Amino acid sequence: MLVSDLRTRYRDEGITPSLAADFQQHVTAFYEAKGRHDMEWRHTTDPYKIVVSEVMLQQTQVPRVAVIYPKFIERFPDFAALAAAEQADLLAAWQGMGYNRRALNLQKLAGIIVDEYNGTVPHDPAVLATLPGIGPATSCSIAAFAFNRPVVFIETNIRRVFIHYFFDDDKIVDDSELLPLVAAMLPENSREWYWALMDLGTALKSSVKNPNQRSRHYTKQNTFEGSDRKIRGSVLKKMLEQKRGSPDVFAKEMNEEPARVRGIMEKMAGEGFFVRESETYYRVSGPQLDERDARQE
Ligand code: ADE
Repeated sequence: MLVSDLRTRYRDEGITPSLAADFQQHVTAFYEAKGRHDMEWRHTTDPYKIVVSEVMLQQTQVPRVAVIYPKFIERFPDFAALAAAEQADLLAAWQGMGYNRRALNLQKLAGIIVDEYNGTVPHDPAVLATLPGIGPATSCSIAAFAFNRPVVFIETNIRRVFIHYFFDDDKIVDDSELLPLVAAMLPENSREWYWALMDLGTALKSSVKNPNQRSRHYTKQNTFEGSDRKIRGSVLKKMLEQKRGSPDVFAKEMNEEPARVRGIMEKMAGEGFFVRESETYYRVSGPQLDERDARQE
């Protein structure tokens, strides 16, 4: 099947049953031949494991998640364990993933699932999207992979597939033009279908000029070198090793502007990573007293 053929048929005839059938057949054949069937989170439907893996995969590449995810699951096997974890242990288990706020949000989410949802993950994406760290795309990917729900959504790999197969090379495409296609092409089994689309989208990244550059919603991940993100990562690593530390000392060790590191640590304290001990010192958030413990003191 030629890409130009699909594009022409879509342009001239719109979405037809035969267009949908041919596209589905192409995607399915690709998945059978080249799908990434070995990913551990594809061998479970445990909603907890799906939630953890989908949050990890939001901003971290598959090979890295593949290394960290199994250790994380072993350390925190369910929502209750994650909700009860000490923050330093949680962040240590998240090391190497980057975008560490996700770990704090994941723990908040675990607490909400345990306390407010009786330990059960909601099936409805609209409800899932109210949970910390769960955006519109992740709410749908959880609903598809955990519950095989017939959701219609777009994330970066899905976007790449639909732009590549249905729109001419010089066209700028809005997500609103993609959604009707995503909806019309969805077969019975949404779980396998979205695995296949994500794999095909990943494969296209190296085989054609990135079709997402033709998306109105295209954003590139900022470079890591010299970024606040890099400094945040280094600071967190030092804090987890030492348990307490000063921005001015870290600035010297990292050869960065003290004011910059002070600002970053103040912001991280505001986000819940550290507690400010004094004008010049922070410490990692210790075991949190729950109400019961506090009363006993
Ligand atoms: N398989 C399951 N979830 C995935 C994701 N978010 N990205 C890539 N592959 C996946």
